[in-house]
Amino acid sequence: MYDLIVIGTGPGGYHAAIRAAQRGLSVAAIEDDAVGGVCLNTGCIPTKALLHAAAELTRARDAATYGLTFGEPDMDLDKLAGWRDGIVDKLSGGVDGLLRARGIDVHKGRAQFVTADAVEVGGEQLSARQFIIATGSRPAPLDGFDFEHPCILDSTTALQLEDGIPQRFLAIGAGAIGLEFATIMQRFGAEVTVAEAMPDLLAGSDAEMTAYYARLLRRQGIDLQFGTRAVDIEYGSDSVDVHLAGDDGSEQTHTFDRVLVAVGRQPASAGLGLDTIGVECDERGFVAVDDAMRTSVDHIHAIGDVARPPLLAHKAMKEGLVAAANAAGEAQIFDYCNPNVIYSDPEWAAVGMTEAEAEQRGINVRIGRFPLSASGRALTLNDSSGLIKVVGDADSDLLLGVHMVGPNASDLIAEAGLALEMAATVTDLKWTVHPHPTLAEGIMEAAEQLYGEAVHLPPG
Ligand code: NAI
Repeated sequence: MYDLIVIGTGPGGYHAAIRAAQRGLSVAAIEDDAVGGVCLNTGCIPTKALLHAAAELTRARDAATYGLTFGEPDMDLDKLAGWRDGIVDKLSGGVDGLLRARGIDVHKGRAQFVTADAVEVGGEQLSARQFIIATGSRPAPLDGFDFEHPCILDSTTALQLEDGIPQRFLAIGAGAIGLEFATIMQRFGAEVTVAEAMPDLLAGSDAEMTAYYARLLRRQGIDLQFGTRAVDIEYGSDSVDVHLAGDDGSEQTHTFDRVLVAVGRQPASAGLGLDTIGVECDERGFVAVDDAMRTSVDHIHAIGDVARPPLLAHKAMKEGLVAAANAAGEAQIFDYCNPNVIYSDPEWAAVGMTEAEAEQRGINVRIGRFPLSASGRALTLNDSSGLIKVVGDADSDLLLGVHMVGPNASDLIAEAGLALEMAATVTDLKWTVHPHPTLAEGIMEAAEQLYGEAVHLPPG
């Protein structure tokens, strides 16, 4: 009888298990696949390795601008895949080691509840006083697009580079996965089309920033088509014809060598026996939880992708810490800002309210903007395409949101996240001494511009 069993060792699950062990609970973790979950093994980490390689390729080409010419790069895809897999193995082994070092028993297999106090895994029954369900999510299918066919990829099979870089690549869906792979493939030399059903990128995001971001992606040569659905497919042996239907009634058929289906992910809540023990799920399959991450059965928590959107590793990690603390008898809730990042090139990052969201709430909104073309640091990086936008409350001076497109946006957004957590004002951002020259100064200058005081921008 354990104090706690955590089902799933993705970012949410391993954070929960380690925090519970830190609080003195006896903990078991159950994992069907490699420790670390989708994020570490087939998601965040391996894609970032490929995105880094893709960015280096671009930087090497662009270096001719300042007099460094390297000649045509020689891409050894096997070596690249080996490097990527080495990072994954190191991290997965590291998480496994951390779990074991905390005295956490890792059981291999698929868990299924047999009672509300016991799960079966690999023919063995394990009991616990409390449970945390952290089983994550899996790619959503698209009617007619068969993941078994070699031309149809999901976010895992798209990582495989054995067959070389496709000449004609289609991403269906312009979410994080579609856009990150669009960057990888385009930088590696593919002709890239992205078909997005919605009229804009990243529904719910700041409209000015998505329009700016789309312009930059198009300028790189990515054929970004909005209001366009992939409706049908004809299979060839090593290519496919995809029918695209536009909201305006237009129809096109194009041949692609590889098609990535990235139309969202579904919670992995089926097969756990949840209905037999009374754990409720919503109509989409997400396990219903309150802000303490508690399910409809009091001693069972759920966290991460299986519990509720947004489907983000960093959100899952913090939810794991909250659930573990509650399992240890504390009273915590998840009430934090979730930064949203797309690691394309350039990167997209946002945290807090959009301009439209703030206006809808009746706030007297004030906006500050700073283009990276005016940043000394961006120019020295030879990478000055980018924009930082600050949303503030003109009455209270409170910072409401920060949105950015540009180099290192994934790291820069952390400052904005901290500012929001600390209820900082726009003036706080303005007067925080930022090291010079850095990209982070752009956040400060956007805050200054909100009050018409950006030093490095002309008036108006
Ligand atoms: P997503 O939900 O972010 O985007 C899917 C897109 O596909 C939507 O814009 C939707 O309008 C579009 N779509 C749906 N059906 C379509 C059709 N038939 N034709 C054309 N477009 C269609 O899903 P995605 O990119 O698959 O990612 C899954 C989850 O994983 C997301 O929740 C995302 O947040 C998360 N993720 C986050 C990453 C990050 O934080 N950098 C990286 C990878 C995934």
